[in-house]
Amino acid sequence: MSSAYWNLWSSVPRVVQLGLVFGLLSASLPSTCASFETKPDFIKTCRFDQANFVDCSTESVQGLFDKLVTGIEGLEHVGTIDPMKISKIRILQGDGPVSVNASLSKVVVTGFASTKVVRNVVSSKDFGWETHIRLPKMRLEGNYHMQGRILVIPLNGHGKCWFEPSGMDIIMRTTTDLYQKDGHVYYNVTATKVDYTISGLRLHMGNLFEGVKVLEDSTNQYLNDNWRPVSEALKPIIAKTIEDILLAIMQNIFHQLPADYFVADLPQGAS
Ligand SMILES: *[C@@H]1O[C@H](CO)[C@@H](O)[C@H](O)[C@H]1NC(C)=O
Ligand SMILES: *[C@@H]1O[C@H](CO)[C@@H](O)[C@H](O)[C@H]1NC(C)=O
Repeated sequence: MSSAYWNLWSSVPRVVQLGLVFGLLSASLPSTCASFETKPDFIKTCRFDQANFVDCSTESVQGLFDKLVTGIEGLEHVGTIDPMKISKIRILQGDGPVSVNASLSKVVVTGFASTKVVRNVVSSKDFGWETHIRLPKMRLEGNYHMQGRILVIPLNGHGKCWFEPSGMDIIMRTTTDLYQKDGHVYYNVTATKVDYTISGLRLHMGNLFEGVKVLEDSTNQYLNDNWRPVSEALKPIIAKTIEDILLAIMQNIFHQLPADYFVADLPQGAS
């Protein structure tokens, strides 16, 4: 996922604010507790003490992803993930070799339907997860507004943009606490760290330089020709943006779906 493909800058003093608005399922449904009183069929239940726990849990997470693509009935605040709609992403970075003030709005991300969960490991000690997922192709479109600089190029403008990363390999390390609610154990997802690689990137930013077409075309050409250093420069902030999006989604999901539906022999006692 790459809500930040166009945030071509990295480094430390940064603030990423996300407004997440998800598709079809609205928050207007009444309280959730009742929705998942019994385990939905799409969740495959595994046990730490089974021989092939990692294979089982990989399959289980794949099943969850597949179901999220079209949306899970009764799950509040989480709509479809393909397309995934995000109302606004803001990036503000002050001093340093690169500085930027940018926003991306009305963002639509497509491609998650072909997410492949390569491996999911759940720790039986601290109940954290390490998840490796592969996304062959993704497309992000939206309206951008930015002032900033990437590599040696100033980028000023606002208009429509799209980004198409391909061959994305993501490793996500998630920490959780367990808690009890209504006779079940739940995950409290507390943090996630993302690392990723991509094998290609195509992009376009329209109306750069307030419509000076020659500059716009040559700059887009340059960014595409140099996609590798461009995406390397952007990596920390893209990773941070992906982390914020995933964290919000996972927190929503796992405060509603009991953890013991996924791993039956989690301790009932808390962690
Ligand atoms: C960032 O840009 C927005 C919109 O152009 C502006 O309102 C805001 O003051 C800017 N923030 C900084 C710190 O420059
Ligand atoms: C989840 O963790 C956060 C941060 O540690 C904490 O503030 C919150 O109360 C926890 N929620 C539950 C339901 O345990």
